[in-house]
Amino acid sequence: MPAPKRLRQNLALILGIGIGGAALAVLLLPDREMLHARGPMNTGHENLRCEYCHQPARGNLRQQLQANARYLLRLRASKANFGLQRAGNPQCLACHDRPTDRHPVFRFNEPRFQEARSAIHPESCISCHLEHRGVRATVVDLGYCRHCHEDTRLKNDPVDISHETLIAEEQWNSCLGCHDFHGNHVMKTAQRLDDAMPPERIRAYLSGGASPYGTDKRHEPREEPPP
Ligand code: HEC
Ligand code: HEC
Ligand code: HEC
Ligand code: HEC
Ligand code: HEC
Repeated sequence: MPAPKRLRQNLALILGIGIGGAALAVLLLPDREMLHARGPMNTGHENLRCEYCHQPARGNLRQQLQANARYLLRLRASKANFGLQRAGNPQCLACHDRPTDRHPVFRFNEPRFQEARSAIHPESCISCHLEHRGVRATVVDLGYCRHCHEDTRLKNDPVDISHETLIAEEQWNSCLGCHDFHGNHVMKTAQRLDDAMPPERIRAYLSGGASPYGTDKRHEPREEPPP
C-alpha cells in the first residue's frame, strides 16, 4: 500500500536536506590529504620535518572553512589551504642557497627564456625535483639542455668531438655525462667523449644512487632552515 502523500513529501524533504548536508560537509571538510605525506621523502630529506617545507596555512580552521565556503559561493577567487601550505623555491633555497649555482632558478624569469619556461619550467626547483617520490631528481629527459644551449660554441674547444659537432648531431644525452647541472661538484670535466659517463649511470644517480661526479661539493645544505 502506498504511503500517504504527506508522509512521502516529508520523507523527500528529509532526504533532500540529508543529501545536501552530506554533500556540503564533504565539500567543506578540511583537505585531510594535506595532513599526510604522499610517498617516501627524496634522497637526503629523510630526516626533514614537514614544517621545514610546508608552513602552517594562514588562519585558524574556522577561518579556513569560511574562506572555502566563500570560494564555493564564488565570493572568493581561490581555495584556502588547510593545515599546510605548498612548498617551492623559497623553502628549497632557504637550505640550498648556492651562490655558485650556474643555473640559478631566478635567472630564468628573463624574457629570453620564455620558450624554455613553457617547455620545462627551469625557473622552479620542483619542475625537476618533485618531492615525496623517493628519488634525487624527477627530471626524465636528460637532454633538456637543448632548450637553451643550441647556440653554445667554445673558442678553442678542448673536447675531442667539439660542442658544435655534439650539438649539430643532437647528442643532447651526452651533456650530463661530462657536466653536472648546478656546478656544485668539485670535479674535473672530461675532454674525450669516450670518458663521458653513460646515460644509465646518470639515471641511476637521479634515482638516488651514488654520485658519478664525486662527493666533494662547494656548498653543503643546511640541516634546518634559518630562523
Ligand atoms: C623538502 C621539502 C618537503 C618536506 C620536508 C615535506 N614536503 Fe610535502 N611537498 C613538498 C613539495 C615540493 C610538494 C609539492 C610538489 C610535489 O608534488 O612533489 C609537496 C607536496 C605534499 C603533499 C601533496 C599536496 C598536493 O595537494 O599535491 C602533501 C600531502 C605533503 N606534501 C605533505 C607533507 C608531510 C605530511 C610532510 C612531513 C612528513 C612533508 N610533506 C614534508 C615538499 C616537502
Ligand atoms: C631544512 C633544509 C632543507 C630544505 C627546506 C630542503 N632541503 Fe634538500 N637537502 C637538505 C639536506 C640536509 C640534504 C642532505 C644532504 C646530504 O645528505 O649530503 C638535502 C638533499 C637534497 C638533494 C640531494 C642532494 C644530494 O647530493 O644527493 C636534493 C636534490 C635536494 N635536497 C633538493 C631540494 C629541493 C628541490 C628542495 C625544495 C623542495 C629542498 N631540497 C628543500 C636540506 C633541505
Ligand atoms: C631543469 C632541471 C633542474 C632544476 C630547475 C633544478 N635542478 Fe637540481 N638538479 C638537476 C639535475 C639534473 C641534477 C643532477 C646533476 C647535478 O648533480 O648537478 C640536480 C642536482 C641537484 C642537487 C644535488 C647536487 C648538488 O648540487 O649538490 C641539489 C641539492 C639540487 N639539485 C637542488 C636544486 C634546487 C634547490 C633547485 C631550485 C633552486 C634545483 N635543484 C633546480 C636538475 C634541476
Ligand atoms: C633554461 C636554460 C638552460 C638550460 C635548460 C640549461 N642551461 Fe646551461 N646555461 C644557461 C645559461 C643562461 C648559462 C650561462 C652562460 C650564458 O649566459 O650563456 C649556462 C651555462 C652553462 C655552463 C657553463 C657554466 C660556466 O660556469 O661557465 C654549462 C657547462 C652548462 N650551462 C651546461 C648545461 C647542461 C649540461 C644542461 C642540461 C643538463 C644545461 N646547461 C641546461 C642556460 C641553461
Ligand atoms: C666529453 C665531455 C663533454 C661533453 C660530452 C660536453 N661537454 Fe661541455 N664542456 C666540456 C669541457 C671540457 C668544457 C671546457 C670548460 C670546462 O672545463 O668545464 C666544456 C664547456 C662547456 C660550456 C661552457 C662554455 C664556455 O663558454 O665556457 C658549456 C655551456 C657546455 N660545455 C655545455 C655543454 C652541453 C650543452 C653539452 C651537450 C651537448 C656538453 N657541454 C657536452 C666537456 C664536455
